[in-house]
Amino acid sequence: VTTQKLTELANFKIGAAVKMANITGEAAYSNTLKGEFNQLTAEFEMKMNFIWTSENNYDFSKVDYLVNYAQQNNMTVHGHALLWYQSFPDWFKNANYDTVAFESKVKVYIETVVGRYKGKIRSWDVANEIFNDDGTMRIESQIQGKFKDPVGFVGRCFKYAAAADPDCKLFYNDYSVVLASGKRNAMKNMAIRFKNTGVPIHGLGDQFHYRISTSQTTINNGFADLVSTGLLIHLSEIDCKVNVNNSPTYVLNSTDLQKQSDFYKNTAKLYNAIPANQKFGMTMWGITDKNTWLRDSGNGNKEYPLLFDEVYAKKPAYAGFLEGL
Ligand code: XIL
Repeated sequence: VTTQKLTELANFKIGAAVKMANITGEAAYSNTLKGEFNQLTAEFEMKMNFIWTSENNYDFSKVDYLVNYAQQNNMTVHGHALLWYQSFPDWFKNANYDTVAFESKVKVYIETVVGRYKGKIRSWDVANEIFNDDGTMRIESQIQGKFKDPVGFVGRCFKYAAAADPDCKLFYNDYSVVLASGKRNAMKNMAIRFKNTGVPIHGLGDQFHYRISTSQTTINNGFADLVSTGLLIHLSEIDCKVNVNNSPTYVLNSTDLQKQSDFYKNTAKLYNAIPANQKFGMTMWGITDKNTWLRDSGNGNKEYPLLFDEVYAKKPAYAGFLEGL
């Protein structure tokens, strides 16, 4: 079993979030990406603040690089994310547009970006994290502050994306979806409203940032509820924390590695069992523990959430993942 690859066993995409600097900077990173994954997502280079540098200027250099890299290596690209409250550029926030101007700028942005990569970026997260866990709207977001009907605005953005590339699969993406029933209900209600009003939504993403201590029963129940929507399901940013207390003196140990392996096995099993027409992919939020975003948080926390260790050796998590498929 251990000589097999995830991409050989899975009948859906095995994705990884990547950074261009790691691909160009380290052969082992690029080789692992090419050898073990068949879809990529930009960890940050396809977000609005990285692309939209000023009102009439777009920087597509890194996006172009990643899209070409994917094409050359037979990988698909999942776009992440057109709208996210954390990635509106400062110049855009500071311009303080009224509702009409705000929407017309965002419309041009979506048409420009989705249109440029028509047929190449075959799926996009149109909106990311608009709800709180209890299902209310996030107040930090530009969108919620401006629009009386923020969900209506988001729906129009799905339409702008679909007009720019009618074949692109369009997702709503958020975290803790299978744990937080309030958020999940808000997502389901939004999807129902979209379906009833002709808004093209194809899938729902649960980021799947969980931990070895997350209740498996809660995951199972929430996941079943999510699948009941009938939409495509993307586990879009998977990682599994072992150092659940963020302890600076944490020492990685075989017990926690085994728990992490079980997490990956159970997650793969769950996903594998959904109807074939709802399968889209499972995306890891990184490749190696060495450069996980969970180590960037500045508090020196020791974390080991992914499938490959610092020298690109497969962890027990990888074997667990395989077993679950
Ligand atoms: C994170 C990236 O991992 C970081 O590199 C970046 O600086 C900030 O964003 N939810 C999301 C992702 O949808 O876009 C976030 O990615 C992690 C949380």
